[in-house]
Amino acid sequence: MLTERVKEIFQEIEQFEVATKEQLEQYRQRFVGRKGVVEALFEGLKDIAKEERRAVGQELNALKNFAIDRFAVIQAEFEANDSGTAGPSVDLTLPVTPNQLGSIHPLTLARAKIIEIFERMGFSVADGPEIESDWYNFTALNFPENHPAREMQDTFFVAKNAEDPTQDMLLRTHTSNVQIRMMERQKPPIRAIMPGRVYRNEAISARAHCFFHQVEGLYIDKNVSFKDLKDTLYHFSKEMFDKDVKIRLRPSFFPFTEPSAEIDIWLGTDTEETYRLSKGTGWVEIAGSGMVDPNVLANCGIDPEEYTGFAFGMGIERIAQLRYGVRDLRLYSENDVRFLRQFEGV
Ligand code: PHE
Repeated sequence: MLTERVKEIFQEIEQFEVATKEQLEQYRQRFVGRKGVVEALFEGLKDIAKEERRAVGQELNALKNFAIDRFAVIQAEFEANDSGTAGPSVDLTLPVTPNQLGSIHPLTLARAKIIEIFERMGFSVADGPEIESDWYNFTALNFPENHPAREMQDTFFVAKNAEDPTQDMLLRTHTSNVQIRMMERQKPPIRAIMPGRVYRNEAISARAHCFFHQVEGLYIDKNVSFKDLKDTLYHFSKEMFDKDVKIRLRPSFFPFTEPSAEIDIWLGTDTEETYRLSKGTGWVEIAGSGMVDPNVLANCGIDPEEYTGFAFGMGIERIAQLRYGVRDLRLYSENDVRFLRQFEGV
């Protein structure tokens, strides 16, 4: 009987919740105080048979000590934080820790904007491999065999193919490889842009990096003309930079386009920044472009007599630089949060 009662009280003590000073006092009165339940049990000892009295007495003492020890522990907790509640204290007057939100990388922002503008003009978005064969990166694009761009100083080669140099593997030096892959796969009309990372074997500086990003554009259909190219890039420039932007097309050369043109936009030379960016001319280049060379169409099984098209390629770093005033290419890949945080909420 008594032994069972002891067990019950053990349990009761363990489960007794003490979260406030009042509850602490209740605990004290019930389990530790002279009028409490534990003390009352000692009264019953005298009715216990003599030979059992010693053993039961020990149980009662164990219970009493348990109650007292536990009381001491809870009381100490109350004193430690002196806030009237048990457990770790919470200071409600402290300022909250701000939620650390990340920001979108400026290259991602620029790429998203470029995609948005071209999608509205009916371009779809395509993708292609970064590790590419010579064929897709150079040969199919009409690069003459000894074109300087193929030389080691520009291209990271991955594996040479002794039998067939067009099967040399390399890191693509531009996104134009995806043009070829699209034209192989798909019959015209084709209207797509192809954003992606490209690699060139260059020393890293404020103005050059061994990897960067381009967006290639390709439009192949019947009767696509140079005017379409100019209109498309003019519209893009207005959407990207400013509705009053001025562009100019400067004759240029790419093996895979004929005629070719570089697209410049007008910055002026009013500020030190625009003077520096435009090297004092007021103009800064944003893209290479041209009419897809008939040889390239033929390489991809498209009849150049039936179809014409234009292509362009622009650097995302350059677009982001002009939009956000990023002075040093290296900032894009150094993960310096002081730089990245400036794009919060952009
Ligand atoms: N691929 C060229 C470069 O990387 C850019 C370009 C693309 C030019 C398409 C014309 C047409 O410089």
